[in-house]
Amino acid sequence: MKILLLGKNGQVGWELQRSLAPLGELLALSSKCEDHCGDLADLQGLAETVRSWAPDVIVNAAAYTAVDKAESEQAHADRVNAQAVDVLAHAAARSGALLVHYSTDYVFPGNGCTPWREGDAVGPLNVYGQTKLAGERAIQSSGCPHLIFRTSWVFAARGNNFAKTMLRLATERDTLGVIDDQFGAPTGAELIADVTAHAIVAWRAKPALSGLYHLAAGGETTWCGYARFVLGLAEKAGVSLKVKADAVKALTTDDYPTPANRPANSRLDTHKLEQVFGLQLPDWRLGVARMLTEIQGK
Ligand SMILES: NC(=O)c1ccc[n+]([C@@H]2O[C@H](COP(=O)([O-])OP(=O)(O)OC[C@H]3O[C@@H](n4cnc5c(N)ncnc54)[C@H](OP(=O)(O)O)[C@@H]3O)[C@@H](O)[C@H]2O)c1
Repeated sequence: MKILLLGKNGQVGWELQRSLAPLGELLALSSKCEDHCGDLADLQGLAETVRSWAPDVIVNAAAYTAVDKAESEQAHADRVNAQAVDVLAHAAARSGALLVHYSTDYVFPGNGCTPWREGDAVGPLNVYGQTKLAGERAIQSSGCPHLIFRTSWVFAARGNNFAKTMLRLATERDTLGVIDDQFGAPTGAELIADVTAHAIVAWRAKPALSGLYHLAAGGETTWCGYARFVLGLAEKAGVSLKVKADAVKALTTDDYPTPANRPANSRLDTHKLEQVFGLQLPDWRLGVARMLTEIQGK
């Protein structure tokens, strides 16, 4: 099986390099065009890569993910998150390749407190969400075999992440306030990559599994709860903090204005994915604790 991976250096892309490797011959590309073009903004180059390499599976982990910047860079966000995905979807429809793609809970309006199900009405609050929704729709209307995974609050040990930022701020500052009225589940890139590999194998045996799935860790928290959990574990591990876990102040979204509106309810109902693929998604705390152990080198 030939697998084309786009966005190999992102949080999810990096982990996919590991999880997809045993499944077949993997061509992993970044936005830099070398022997093959992996730049999603280069629509012709992208189409040529798929045509010439003829993959059986295309895994698109590349995306324009700068949520606030997207408000002022709508055209570029749309090119990467929607037009490029349309190119991939039509190429996959022509060749019969499976297209694996990631989307977001930001396609939803974020109201209420019930976890979103796949069929719930969408209504993005920001440009990023609009472009990601357009990407989903391009895939669905192309007729290509696909697995779309909507996920939320992605973290990885590699690169910058929310937990590392909280640890730094809690050692530098005397006070720390974090938003406590947005709810979701921090989801590890490792988990997403492992589920992806499992789902590809399952799809190969049963192509009728093609579809849209919610993929997020179990349980729920707020950004403030997430920060307190991280600082609590760091304290237990002997890290000296100026701001202790229970001293983190709870802020509201209104206290912390950003260019892009964000949903208060990012909860995703993952029953469909768990039932269809026979999986049990672990609680978010397991992945975050593991990531902290990894970054602390213990
Ligand atoms: N991060 C989250 O919290 C979150 C939440 C829900 C859903 N998602 C979705 O999950 C997927 C993976 O996200 P992630 O967290 O792994 O994102 P990420 O860490 O921001 O990585 C995105 C990758 O896309 C690449 N990229 C950007 N523009 C590109 C272009 N024109 N051509 C090729 N590559 C390009 C980036 O490469 P460069 O660094 O070279 O630009 C980067 O490697 C995305 O579809 C995202 O929308 C993410």
